[in-house]
Amino acid sequence: MTESSTMLITVQNITTALKDKPGALLPILHAVQDALGFVPEASVPVIAKALNLSRAEVHGVISFYHYFRSTQPGKKTIHLCRAESCQAMGGKNLENHVKNSLGIDFHETTTDGKFSLEPVYCLGNCACSPAMQIGTEIYGRVSPESFDAAINEPEELA
Ligand code: FES
Repeated sequence: MTESSTMLITVQNITTALKDKPGALLPILHAVQDALGFVPEASVPVIAKALNLSRAEVHGVISFYHYFRSTQPGKKTIHLCRAESCQAMGGKNLENHVKNSLGIDFHETTTDGKFSLEPVYCLGNCACSPAMQIGTEIYGRVSPESFDAAINEPEELA
């Protein structure tokens, strides 16, 4: 069985289990993302049919809530802080560098599948702005140079 057919069976099972709940679309999308790490494009017609919605309606909800990912997450997720303190300490420059360096925008995954990039609104590390998190590790006073060093640490590449 291929990976995509296994994913579709998971989506079908979740949809069947939840489709009769009131306001079933969001619980289904959350359950799919919890199970697979993202909401695959191929799941949209399955969910739309079960809920008697158009594909555009399902797409609209997925794209409205930034929480939902349409692409497979990378091996590690980089959360880059975009809140006020980090913005005041060069966060925008850092964001530009991170996006250029990885070749992706927020909510995307690098082509090698190593990193996904997500915005976050305060990591509780404001005293060391600008801040980011890679996996479970928090980094403070991040510069373009220290970002490059962090993503090239051996454990980040393993
Ligand atoms: S504002 Fe960025 S860590 Fe708090």
